[in-house]
Order: sequence, then C-alpha cells, then structure tokens
Amino acid sequence: MTSFHTIKWLDPGLVSMIDQRKLPHKVIYNEYQDPAAVAGAIKDMVIRGAPAIGAAAAYGLALVPWHDKIGRLEDVYKKLEHAAGILRKSRPTAVNLFWAIDRMMALVEEINYSSVAELKERLLKEALQIAEEDVVTNKAIGRNAMPLIPDGAVIFHHCNTGSLAAVDYGTALGIIRLAHEEGKNVFAFVDETRPRLQGGRLTAWELLQYGVPFKVVADSTSGHYMRTQRVDLCVVGTDRVAANGDVANKIGTYNLAVVAHENKVPFYVAVPKTTIDMNTPSGDQIEIEERPAEEVTHVGNWQITPDGTPVGNPAFDVTPAKYVTAFITEDGVVYPPYEENLAKLFRELE
Ligand code: MRU
Repeated sequence: MTSFHTIKWLDPGLVSMIDQRKLPHKVIYNEYQDPAAVAGAIKDMVIRGAPAIGAAAAYGLALVPWHDKIGRLEDVYKKLEHAAGILRKSRPTAVNLFWAIDRMMALVEEINYSSVAELKERLLKEALQIAEEDVVTNKAIGRNAMPLIPDGAVIFHHCNTGSLAAVDYGTALGIIRLAHEEGKNVFAFVDETRPRLQGGRLTAWELLQYGVPFKVVADSTSGHYMRTQRVDLCVVGTDRVAANGDVANKIGTYNLAVVAHENKVPFYVAVPKTTIDMNTPSGDQIEIEERPAEEVTHVGNWQITPDGTPVGNPAFDVTPAKYVTAFITEDGVVYPPYEENLAKLFRELE
C-alpha cells in the first residue's frame, strides 16, 4: 500500500481524493458528496488516469442514494440518470469512465429494489468492489510483466500510470515498481509529459517514495536516448485500446512508439481489460479530448506564449497497433495479431 490514497470512500457518504493538481508541492485531500462535483473533479483533473476516473464515477453514482432525504425510489432513479449523464460528459477518451457508469447503472436498471436504503447499500457495495478489483488487476498486470523485464532494465515511461492514475499500485508504473521491489535494479526514464506534466510532477513524486532510480526528461529526448544509449523497453498505460489493438494514450505516446520502433526497442502497453473497448473497431473511432488552451500557453500561473497565440491541445493520441510489441493484461500477455488475440482474451472469459 502507498502512504497516500488516490480515491477513497469515507463514511458518512463522502468521496475523498488527493488533489493531483496540487502535487508535488501540496498533499491535499478534497471531499465530495455530490456527483456533479465529482464530474467537475474529473474534468479539472483533480483525479485523472483511466482506472481512477472509472472508480471516481462509480463512487459519484453511489453518492446519489446516500444523500437522498425523501426516500422515493422513482426520484432517486431519476437523479441517478441525471448524474450518469453529467459524469459521462466529464472526459471523453478513457473508456473506464463509461464502463464503470454502465456497470453501476445496470444494477439500477436490472434489479427491483424495495427501498432507497437497499439501493444505497447495493450501489456502494458495487463501487467498493470496482475499486478493489482495480488494485487486484494492477498487481496481476505487474506479475504478468515480470518475465519481460530483464535485470538492470532501462525503461522509458510516459505520463503517470501509477497509484495516482488508479485506485492503487497502477499499471505501467506498477510494473516498474514491482520490478524494483523484486530487486531487478531497474532504471526509469520519466517523460515529463507536457502540457500537464504528469511525469515531472506525479510519476517523479511516486518514484521518489518507492525508491526507484529514475530521471525526468523532456518528452522530446526519447530519440536521443534511444539512439545514443541502451534502452531496453518502453512501457506505457492507455485510456482505450480499440478492438484492432490501436492505443489511445497521453499525447506524445505515438511519438515515443515510433522512436522505439525505429530503434528496435520493445514497446509494451499495460492494460486492464476494463480499458479494452471491443465495441470500438479502430483508433479512428476514439474521441480525442481537446483541452483548454491555457494548459499550453501557461505553466502553472506563468504565461509562456504571447497574448493571442493560437493553440492546439489534444490530450491524447492514437498509436497504431503495429507499433505495440505486446499488451500486458491481468490475464496474460497478448501478442499480434491483435484483432484475433484481443477477441480471444474476452472469449476465454465467457
Ligand atoms: O490526462 P490523463 O492524465 O488522465 O491521462 C492519463 C494517461 O494517459 C494514462 O497513461 C492512462 O490513463 C493510463 S493510467 C493507468
């Protein structure tokens, strides 16, 4: 367990989240009791990272019956529909958001409840379960990755995919952390991840706590390092994998994958099955979030561009499947051909 929590349910009916906008300088926990405020926290990136966003949405919905004061089921159902609508609009790319909302709303729609109290207990149980499953999944991803991580591995990582991006432990960063815990002497190159600096602020903050040796580097350095020194592998997380294996992840991932390919460095994607979207045929159908211009024109409160500068700020890009060496999931490592082997991963479940 980490010494901090990314997201946690507190009685009576509060969702507590570490405010990731303030890290690494301030460790502050915000408490929410209203699903619209949870949606706002997702949008403003108080909480971010695909699995963490999913858990936040689930807890956000659990808040609805918790704070009902009247006790009429019909009213609570309506409020839940409304809250689900607001949460769905918070961020478009991470499929975990929609997956978690659908899972919670299926319980609302498919069960005949006799009271609001019963609905309240059931939704909280499910949200807690979603959170618990995430931690178990991340640890399984880490274990499945270990045969791919040589002793002394030099690893490139992008964005933040650690405990802060999940309920705990994390996906790609969880792999690096586990390799370190197993005494593998790994070293991480940490992309700073412009414009929100998830690498420089958040991944660095986590790795310092775990004692993993690392170096923060500008995103544009990967070509230089891969050409001039030994890099053994890249490992990244993802917000959505399409059925053909195309990967949506933090902007800059595509550049990293192309550079890795050019330099014959394996490029792995750590992915819980909740992030694989078999209903989206390819990366072309994944909505890429465009975020506010201020994220590019400013670093913190400091404006770095002239007034009136036009800006493009896509938060994610799509890495074509052909650049992915393998997907590391909780159920094993998946190699190409992805269309076939990702489908098999889900068929085997049934
Ligand atoms: O915009 P963010 O910080 O939410 O983007 C996060 C990422 O791109 C992560 O790599 C992804 O969500 C996987 S986190 C386990």
